Amino acid sequence: LKIGVLASGRGSNLQALLDAIEAGTVDGQVVLVVSDRQNAQALERASAKSIPAVHLSPKNYSDRAAYDRALAALFKERGAEAVVLAGYMRIISKSFLEAFPEKVVNIHPALLPAFPGLHGQKQALDYGVRYSGCTVHFVDEGMDTGPIILQAVVPVEDDDTEETLAAKILKEEHRLLPQAIQLFSQGRLRVEGRKVRILKEK
Ligand code: GRF
Repeated sequence: LKIGVLASGRGSNLQALLDAIEAGTVDGQVVLVVSDRQNAQALERASAKSIPAVHLSPKNYSDRAAYDRALAALFKERGAEAVVLAGYMRIISKSFLEAFPEKVVNIHPALLPAFPGLHGQKQALDYGVRYSGCTVHFVDEGMDTGPIILQAVVPVEDDDTEETLAAKILKEEHRLLPQAIQLFSQGRLRVEGRKVRILKEK
């Protein structure tokens, strides 16, 4: 599977994916990493593995649709068959999704549909839930609303802070994202309306 990655920051989920590919638990290769932010650590992580890494500034485009068309063209050029949003802090527009229908995957640090958007960990903590976690889902035009592929649960303890909870969730993210991408790579994900069916291993 040829994988494109969009990232805005630290890139630890990108790293988890690269490590899983190296370990042989994900059958695929990352063919391109694009960031909307010049100083994203994700770009350095890609370069360190000799993976093409590009900063594309939204400022050079008239609107989001134009920016997303340029993004999609870059991924197409590299032959990407799936695009992973690994800490990508922008909404994906229709033009991008039409170029990669049911092929864009996001990781979110909460149990969707609870706590979408920014700061999912803080939202969970402030709400007082006893369990949170992370969700890998297909991306649609909404904010963290697409069909859910996998989720992992993390207990919230009374003395958790945003930082400790985020760290526990991140650990699960790093396990869950590669697992979901491997299911995709094996052709085992079927989107049926709102739901994703996971086909048994052949
Ligand atoms: C993760 O918590 C992810 O769930 C969220 O943004 C964060 C990205 O972290 N969408 P990293 O850049 O992968 O380290």
